[in-house]
Amino acid sequence: MAGNTYDKAVKVLSSFRAAFGKTDANDILIVRAPGRVNLIGDHTDYHEGFVLPMTIDRCAYAALRARNDDTVNLYAAQFDEWITYPLSERPETEPGAWAAYVTGVVSELRDRLPGGFEMLVESDVPIGAGLSSSAALSTAVIYGLDQLFGLGIDPIDAVHLSQQVEHRYAGVSCGIMDPFVSRLGRRRHALLLDCRSLACEHVPLTNTERDRNDAFEIVIVDSGVRRELASSSYNTRRSECEQALETIREARPDIRSLRDAKPEDLWLLPSLQHRRVRHVLEENDRVLQARDALRNGDFEAFGILMNQSHDSLRDLYEVSCEELDTLVAAARNVDGVAGARMTGGGFGGCTVNLVRQTAVPALREALCETYAKTYRRTPVIYVVRENHRTERM
Ligand code: GLA
Repeated sequence: MAGNTYDKAVKVLSSFRAAFGKTDANDILIVRAPGRVNLIGDHTDYHEGFVLPMTIDRCAYAALRARNDDTVNLYAAQFDEWITYPLSERPETEPGAWAAYVTGVVSELRDRLPGGFEMLVESDVPIGAGLSSSAALSTAVIYGLDQLFGLGIDPIDAVHLSQQVEHRYAGVSCGIMDPFVSRLGRRRHALLLDCRSLACEHVPLTNTERDRNDAFEIVIVDSGVRRELASSSYNTRRSECEQALETIREARPDIRSLRDAKPEDLWLLPSLQHRRVRHVLEENDRVLQARDALRNGDFEAFGILMNQSHDSLRDLYEVSCEELDTLVAAARNVDGVAGARMTGGGFGGCTVNLVRQTAVPALREALCETYAKTYRRTPVIYVVRENHRTERM
């Protein structure tokens, strides 16, 4: 176990013991599942398109111990909140709260669980920042229960389960990208996912190796703007696109999703739907070009595609916001920044920047200065040091 990982495991173990009492470390299982940042391909997953996310070094953790009865005893260390209930029931929870995800997973798996358990959950993925804190949490809980009870859950089934929990218990009609990359992402790789076939390709992140003098860093910048996906226009965008799909289908009944739309179909649509669908078509092309650029180690080309992606999310899909646009514009003015864009669902959250390692200090300075001047706030800046995967610790 690498140093940080070991320290984290010791910390989670001691929080578990503080919450549930002293016990043999061998009886406790600890797992983690990472958050993600999407490098390119936003608002394409639920149109069966392409995405290119990677996992980050922020994770959700679950520590578990089996019980001899049917009691489920849950503790969220971050919030200092407890929930205790019999396995046969599901307590009322607030949609989108940690308890909704955890009890949602438990109730979906109930028929396969041999008995009750104790579980501590904890996370260092910032909540509501567009870095998939909820997918990381449900992925960690599913993987933890799978490992504790030897359920043999297929990883793709785990991904679907996590997505279903988000739909049912959090009220967001999200796509498959977040749980997929959290469960199946690999270290030092981005993941190209075909959201129709679920075929994926792990694309090595070569130039991000730190010993090279031409190294690039992935830098995430949190705008601090929080818009809950459920109450935001995420679901509205989905329904606008469903209407567009219906219209295109009148002319071409064979098309299954917007992934199959062609540029000539755009002319069938009123202007708002035209813009939405144009984003989807062009973004899908960009993801495939970005995968090729990454394979060739061509980070300049990758950055140009990131910039185009942001402009399209801002102007055509209209899911950016003023703060994200300000951060992106300021980043692009810094020498050594190859590309900057919003990432994830939008309406707030984070930007992702592809930056020459030598330019990171200048980027920090420029962003802090601009943000302070415009909004009297400091953005939180994370350089992605490592990218983790779902695993036992
Ligand atoms: C959120 C959803 C994902 C995806 C992105 C936008 O993160 O959970 O499924 O749709 O927004 O790309």
